[in-house]
Amino acid sequence: MNVAVIIPAAGSSERYVAAARAEGNESARSKLDEDLGGRPVLHRTVELFTNRDDVQTIIVAGPADDDEMDAFRARHADKLSILGVTIVPGGQAHRYQSVGAALTHVPDSCTHVAVHDAARPGVPHPMLDRLFDAAAHQPAVIPALPIADTIKRTAPAPELNPPADPLASILGDAAASTPDARKVSETVDRADLVAAQTPQIFSRDLITRAYQQSDLASTDDAALVERLGEPVLVIEGDVRAMKITTPADLRALRAMLNLKGPAERATHKRF
Ligand code: CTP
Ligand code: MG
Repeated sequence: MNVAVIIPAAGSSERYVAAARAEGNESARSKLDEDLGGRPVLHRTVELFTNRDDVQTIIVAGPADDDEMDAFRARHADKLSILGVTIVPGGQAHRYQSVGAALTHVPDSCTHVAVHDAARPGVPHPMLDRLFDAAAHQPAVIPALPIADTIKRTAPAPELNPPADPLASILGDAAASTPDARKVSETVDRADLVAAQTPQIFSRDLITRAYQQSDLASTDDAALVERLGEPVLVIEGDVRAMKITTPADLRALRAMLNLKGPAERATHKRF
């Protein structure tokens, strides 16, 4: 197997920055630049793949905008080029645009393409081994975890939600005035539901065909393979393959990986 790894890293970390500001951190930056055990999240993610014999090339999709790409290269290109990474412009609005752009840079000699979110730096190596082993026999393999919570479908949030109890709102009862409160319409049977993670790995032909479709709207790559009517195999994921969306996720991941935050490390080991 000769694998090209595509790492979409063109997102704008909107939810991360918004949640950091809500915590009082006004200088929050891209989640991919944040410290994870002494290195930026993005570098940790790339390093997951650098020592694998089956990985031939690593392609990072950075910002679509020229100025933002210059800043991205200034922050990351030195380290990433030492690691043998190719940086290409991604897509402005959607992850699938970034993956589609990176796919055009996959060398002809690659037999497989793995797509892995830059925001998932904690994947344990045994999970990667499981995936790559399965991909030797199956054209589309993804990791996923069972869902522990009870899953509800809800009605769309009403635009205006007058509190049921006017007195409660006068008294400042937060629950009564929650702006996005919505009604449950159904409890979904979770027995056969799983939560998809990445890396998702495909034969090169299959992912190429998937991205030749006219409707590419999707939140993961496997969905485009499913749209072709081709089977996708699910194998066991790992909680440490979680995606960092908010600062709380980054703190949780540090704890799971037993890594200290920069402020908890000795001063000479902070950067
Ligand atoms: N991504 C990308 N191109 C986009 C949007 C997202 O390459 N146009 C990447 C992100 O950089 C991330 C992965 O896709 O590694 C998953 O996306 P997500 O977690 O949503 O990250 P962001 O889009 O950056 O975050 P947010 O949605 O909060 O802005
Ligand atoms: Mg996003």
